Amino acid sequence: MAFVAEHAFLSGGRVNGVQRAGAWHEAQFGRASEACGVASGRVNLIGDHIDYAGGTVLPMALHECTVVALARATCDVFSSASTVDLLWTRYAAGVLTELRASGMAVPPVSVAVVSDLTIGAGLSSSAALEVAVARAALTLVNATMDADALALLCQRAEHRHAGTPCGIMDQWCVAHANPGEAILLDCARLDWRRLALPPTLRIELIDSGVRHALRDGGYASRRAEVEEAAQRLGVDQLAALPAARWSEIDQLPDRLARRARHVVRECARVHEAVRALESNDLAQFGRLLTESHCSLRDEFDVSTPELDAIVAEACVHGALGARMTGGGFGGCVVVAHRA
Ligand code: GLA
Repeated sequence: MAFVAEHAFLSGGRVNGVQRAGAWHEAQFGRASEACGVASGRVNLIGDHIDYAGGTVLPMALHECTVVALARATCDVFSSASTVDLLWTRYAAGVLTELRASGMAVPPVSVAVVSDLTIGAGLSSSAALEVAVARAALTLVNATMDADALALLCQRAEHRHAGTPCGIMDQWCVAHANPGEAILLDCARLDWRRLALPPTLRIELIDSGVRHALRDGGYASRRAEVEEAAQRLGVDQLAALPAARWSEIDQLPDRLARRARHVVRECARVHEAVRALESNDLAQFGRLLTESHCSLRDEFDVSTPELDAIVAEACVHGALGARMTGGGFGGCVVVAHRA
């Protein structure tokens, strides 16, 4: 099995990325590519570890993206460059398998990838790869799939083939949002809308340099704890627990109580953050980001000392607020500034 991947900056933007993916394919496989797919990464502005609990989240698509070039081959071929997480092959192969299982006549393909998204940095490099592979394969066979179905197919690929029990936030955002655009997604009902950010808000990303692997078990165990808390409280999903019943959380065993407290408060914070953005109250938006970070650190235990230090520094140096973003255990901090 060969998987070609080049992890480098697509400094010339998407067009250049498409050319580079094509050139990379030709250099590796000795044949021109026949189809291309592009997908952005995302940063979650607020609402982490609540998508799988039925919460509403506010992710934003990035300009950084992954480009896949592929062509018909005698069998699926992937080759791995040393800079790339070898498990990337599982995401790409998983998407091809799910496309075929859904009835798409995708032939065996040679797959080449270039990306300027940092891997394992909480920016959805895996969802971007999944969606880019799916888009390229669909183009190859001249088929289309609506963005909702595409997102769900890619999430299924991640569950079944990469072994990460992720929620739907990343694939949904990558499949629906344009670069630089934020979306508000109700993960229980899959209702969503685009949300215009105030022009006075500037978002900065700072990479802690600590790399996570969601599949390491921390993510799965958090999700299991959240589900156990919901079950003990007698609700399908924690996001559905009415505020009048929040005091019941205190009766859960300590760890489950802390997880549940994070989830219900984070769900409320997202709605408050949207109100703050829509009324241009950037100071309040910033406060909510920092509150969210503290909750992910103290109640959910998914932050790291490096992330905590960046958040603290950013706040000391005048940021409106800052928080870790994505699954945690490393990755990036998102910082809000007044533009
Ligand atoms: C990862 C998962 C998402 C979500 C976040 C945490 O990015 O893929 O579904 O759970 O972690 O908010």
